This record gives sequence, structure tokens and C-alpha cells, in this order.
Amino acid sequence: VLRPGSTAEVAAIVRLARTHHVGLVPQGGNTGLVGGGVPRAGEVVVDLRRLARLGPVDTASLQVTVGAGVTLAALQRHAGHAGLAFAVDLGARDTATIGGMVATNAGGLHVLRHGAMRAQVLGLEAVLGTGDIVAANPTGLVKDNTGYDLPGLLCGSEGTLGIVTSVRLRLLPAPARVVTALLGVDGVAAAVDALAELRGCAGLHAAELLLADGMALVGRHLGLPPPLDPLPPCAVLVELAGDGDLLGQLGAALDRLGPVVRATAVADDEAGGARLWRWREAHPEVAAAHGIVHKADVSIPLTELPPFVDQVAPLVAARAPGAPLLVYGHLGDGNLHVNVATAGDDDGGAVDAVLALALDLGGSVSAEHGIGVAKVSWLLRQRGAAAVRTMAALKAALDPDGICNPGVLLPA
Ligand code: MLT
Ligand code: ZN
Repeated sequence: VLRPGSTAEVAAIVRLARTHHVGLVPQGGNTGLVGGGVPRAGEVVVDLRRLARLGPVDTASLQVTVGAGVTLAALQRHAGHAGLAFAVDLGARDTATIGGMVATNAGGLHVLRHGAMRAQVLGLEAVLGTGDIVAANPTGLVKDNTGYDLPGLLCGSEGTLGIVTSVRLRLLPAPARVVTALLGVDGVAAAVDALAELRGCAGLHAAELLLADGMALVGRHLGLPPPLDPLPPCAVLVELAGDGDLLGQLGAALDRLGPVVRATAVADDEAGGARLWRWREAHPEVAAAHGIVHKADVSIPLTELPPFVDQVAPLVAARAPGAPLLVYGHLGDGNLHVNVATAGDDDGGAVDAVLALALDLGGSVSAEHGIGVAKVSWLLRQRGAAAVRTMAALKAALDPDGICNPGVLLPA
């Protein structure tokens, strides 16, 4: 494991790796979920957490430059001290690093309002597999129409083209108020109807989907009474943020929805909001408490979400009988996480069946976690030969010796 403290040291590592034909696996907080940061065949891990510089917040342009090793939580605190906020938030905030989040184009809880990481990146510095250091739009020009979008290309490249060392990021004014609500509905179709109405709330920045089985498992695991009693078949966790009348916006949406929403729990304070969020954020840890977790992270067109959820449970039960199943995720993005917990390594093909169903319904086999090593065999099936050939050509140009995260994203 090498722990560089500067971009020059990362470049020196890449030069050495080229000379000695050694693969490099960049690693940030190691919170990835598809094995993209895990060495498998004698590669050298490049731990980037020493690149933890927090640049001054530019309050005129609402931007900041941070090192790849800065955690999301440290960035959020840093922006907060200047009265600003960072658009992307996710459960692994205390450990996940900005470099890793850029490399994986991480999504999270506020994509429906602000987009994923790629939408926050104005510029970046990276060491390519050639050893070249590229500084693409390091001053964060909002308008810079000079050729290929290198930050956009490196974002989501999962360490296969080079190693991101620092990033110029967009910030936002911190919201004056936040309102969180859990809405009980009769099923996924009703949740999609509720989402359509909630889109009318100017402050909407999160809309998450929870199902009764998952909520029951969370309640048992955490020893909590149900947040809505009785537990509805389905719940939408909504958050509004901004400086308007958020409770008024929510109330008006609920009035329009009428009987679609059966029960409501609302919090307009931080502690109450955190209590409601616990029901959502505990899902991955509850799955992990039930065995080895096999994960599908799929995007589904919203119109196909109800048939997808209807079909997932029997599909999984047929392949992994009796395995606890948690389905939850980012309703606003049509992004569901399907977690199957089994006693052993084998899921009986449950995840593959879920991915095939997602493709059949016009979805994606990876919404926000990336391809890593876990989903490599699915890339060709979803993107097709021409797209995969194009990706391989880019890889060959930027990483001619194949030292950058070999075997990740594209087959080795
Ligand atoms: C989440 O939304 O909770 C994350 O993507 C993590 C996960 O599903 O395990
Ligand atoms: Zn997620």
C-alpha cells in the first residue's frame, strides 16, 4: 500500500508502475459496493487519504477545491462554515472520499434536485495512466468550451484511466430550513403518484422509497416502534429544503394527493428529521446483519417501477429461498437497491435475475454504484459492442500499459 501526499508523488508512483508493469488500485474511503477499490491479483493499493487539503471556499463563485482524500463529511462541514452546502449527500458520508465519489460518479440522496457527482465537478487534477498530470479547468470557469470534457470523462471512470488527485466543486447556499416527512401509501404505484405531486414543491430535494418488509426488519434490528402505525405497505421519505414556506408546500401537496397518502409523520427539526432518516439509512446495515449481502443497484423507468417491485420478490425467492430481501432506494431517480442476504457466498443467480429484469424493463444494471468487478459481465449486454469498443479505445489511449485498476469496468 502506497500513501502519496502530493500529486507529484502520485505521478512518480504511476511512472514506477509503468516501468515495472504493476497494476494500481486507487482507494479512498473503501466504501464502494462493486469491488472497484479492492486489489485481487497482486496490484499495489494507492491510498489517497493523505490528499486531504481543503482549499478556501470561494463565496463569490460558490466553489471550492479539495484534495481527493477529503471525506464527504469534512467537505460538508467546510462548506457549512462559509454558510454553504455541497449538493451530494449519502449514508457513507463520514468515510467516503471526494476522489472516490468522483471516480464512481456517486449519486445519493439529492440527485433528483442537483444531479450526481458529475454535475458538481467543474474541474479536476488527475494523473493519467500515461503519467501525464492533467489540470482540467482548475480555476472552475463556468464557461470553458475548449474541447473534450476531461472532468466529465474521468468522473465515473472508476480509476481505469488515471487517478484523480484534486477536484474543483460547485457549492450551494445552505438551506435555511429543512422539513422531513414519511408518507404512508398503499403501494409502489401510489408512491409514484405521490412523487408526481411532490415534484410541484420547489424545495423537494429527496424522495426515498421504503417497503413494509424492509421497515419491519429495520424496526426489529434497531428495536424501534413503527414510524407509522400500522406500517403501510409502502412509504415515501420526503425532504424539502430551502428558505420558502416548506411546511406550506408540503401541506398543499398532501391536500392535492388526498386519500393517496394514508398516514404522515412530519419533522421540521434536525433531531426529528434524523429519526425519520434512520429508517431509510439503516437499510444497508440491516441487510448486512442478516448474512452475506448480494446487491443489485438498478435504475428503472418510473412507469415500470410497480411491475419491477411486484416481480422482484418471487424472482429472488425462487433462486435464494428464505433469504431476507430488502428493496429500497431513491424513488425520485427511479433507482432501487435490491439486497439479498444469504448464509453463504452463493445467491443462486438472484442478482443476475434482478439485473436481467431491470434491462427488460428499459432500466440500467448500475444506477449509481458503478460497474467495478461485480458487474463487468453486464457492461456489454447493456451498452453494446460499439460503446464498449469506444471505452476500450479511450482506456488504451490514456492507460497504454493497462496499469490503472485492471479488470475493473472493462474486462482485463
Ligand atoms: C444507499 O442508497 O443506501 C446506498 O447506495 C448504499 C446501499 O444501497 O448499500
Ligand atoms: Zn443509494
